Amino acid sequence: MGESSCWWRKSVVYEIYVRSFKDSNGDGVGDLNGITEKLDYLQNLGVDVLWLTPIYESPGDDNGYDISDYCSIMKSFGTMKDFEHLLNEAHRRKIKIVMDLVVNHTSDEHSWFVESRKNRDNSYRDYYIWRDGKEGNMPPNNWTSCFLGSAWQYDAQTEQYYLHMFSKKQPDLNWDYEPVRKEVYKMMRWWLDKGIDGFRMDVISLISKDSRMLCEDSNIKGHTVCANGPRVHEYLQEMHREVLSNYDIMTVGETPAVTVREACQYAANQQSELSMVFQFELMDVDGGESGKWNDKKYQLQDVKAVLRKWQEGLYGQAWGSLFWNNHDQPRVVSRFGDTSTKEYWNKSAKMLATALYLLQGTPYIYQGEELGMTNLDFQSIDEFRDIESLNAYQEYVEKEKSISSEDMMRYVRKSSRDNARSPMQWDDSENAGFSAAEPWIGVHSNYQWLNAKQQMEDKDSILHYYQKLIRILRENNIVCDGKFQEFMEDSPALYCYRRFTQEGEIVVCCNFTKEEQAWDERVVPEGADILIGNYEKHQRGVMNAYEAIVYQR
Ligand code: GLC
Repeated sequence: MGESSCWWRKSVVYEIYVRSFKDSNGDGVGDLNGITEKLDYLQNLGVDVLWLTPIYESPGDDNGYDISDYCSIMKSFGTMKDFEHLLNEAHRRKIKIVMDLVVNHTSDEHSWFVESRKNRDNSYRDYYIWRDGKEGNMPPNNWTSCFLGSAWQYDAQTEQYYLHMFSKKQPDLNWDYEPVRKEVYKMMRWWLDKGIDGFRMDVISLISKDSRMLCEDSNIKGHTVCANGPRVHEYLQEMHREVLSNYDIMTVGETPAVTVREACQYAANQQSELSMVFQFELMDVDGGESGKWNDKKYQLQDVKAVLRKWQEGLYGQAWGSLFWNNHDQPRVVSRFGDTSTKEYWNKSAKMLATALYLLQGTPYIYQGEELGMTNLDFQSIDEFRDIESLNAYQEYVEKEKSISSEDMMRYVRKSSRDNARSPMQWDDSENAGFSAAEPWIGVHSNYQWLNAKQQMEDKDSILHYYQKLIRILRENNIVCDGKFQEFMEDSPALYCYRRFTQEGEIVVCCNFTKEEQAWDERVVPEGADILIGNYEKHQRGVMNAYEAIVYQR
């Protein structure tokens, strides 16, 4: 497919975590009809594409990322009819729908795995990755699952281990076995023929495991050990030939541990694999040696270095994505902004959107981000629901006793994936207008003042700023195509860059601190006008607390 049909380069994507977006039938769980009810809100916001987290049948060990049937809808989310209705209603409003494709692994309750584990001769045996243990009843190698513990699970029935890079209820599919790939492509065509507009591909950089390494120990931790494996590009090219190239769709690969070089292959402008990828270096700037469970605060220079590297590395070669948060990450305003006063919260949320989304790449807004929703205020570990957080608490506090419960609670409140998963705050009624029943996970106590209804009425709200910014992102050619050049690279407080084409240029300056900063505005071209800013009046040469300003010529 030629570059001319790259509509997704000028689209703004909005991620919906279905379970927490809107409950229409009063069971405490978000659902498809709930999304349909809110399409007018999304249309008003101005987004072009909705990415839905998995809506397929699933036992829910990892909130739907463990799929037991790819072609049916999870009962608590609704029916296939509800989905078709949602798709029609979205399309009627010119909003596209992209589905989550989780094919690195299935649920252990998927019929393929149920068969596979029955006996070694079963025709589905090779759909998954089975190996003998090492002597002394040890797993085949020392790989660890992303949710802690060994990545191998012993199965007494056939006396072998199967590989699971996530929970033991998420066995990894064996992509080297051709029938697996054929089945996946068939399922993808089935959804595309229904009229969906693309896929977000879950941990797609992990699908090709080097079979020689499966029985060898490694000192690489976590999923990196099998990222960007030997045949991953071959498989994605095959998928592109057999499926993707036949439809005018967008695809985005979640590619943990991707490098710029790899990304230029996955998401090359020539389009032989994916439309774009998610890279996670930005999400690691406040991680410590042992990962995410720590107190570390980010440094602006680290953020800038990551953004610079990817802006420069992909330019003219490949297409990228821009995101500050998603369903696996804490809330952007709590993490990179300032929630210590309402004024700072409002200003810093707007500033962060400005700093990131005017770079090159497709912007992804995560539900509630447009309201400045914040990290959770849970006090006890029992309030958390996420398998990753609960496993980590159990491992470090209860088993290893290497972290005290007070410290771990601080870390979990800072980094847990549940920070993103609390119910969407629609209004100030009970349960934030999310559900008539008690939600599956607690609502943030700030919903009475922080909600969509309040912000729709307030002209100075974060929501209104996002609306205005989104309009710019969709219409502005310089934002889409412009080359990136950074100013003041060493500043620990200001993030300042220009984007330019032959047609014109924009200059962006953002203050990441609450202290006033001096800014030499000679970098702003003569005759430039203010395109957007988060203060009513901008004083030349001075950047106020969390101020963002954009000029265009
Ligand atoms: C991705 C998803 C995450 C899930 C994991 C396993 O990283 O975003 O939520 O737990 O894959 O499917």
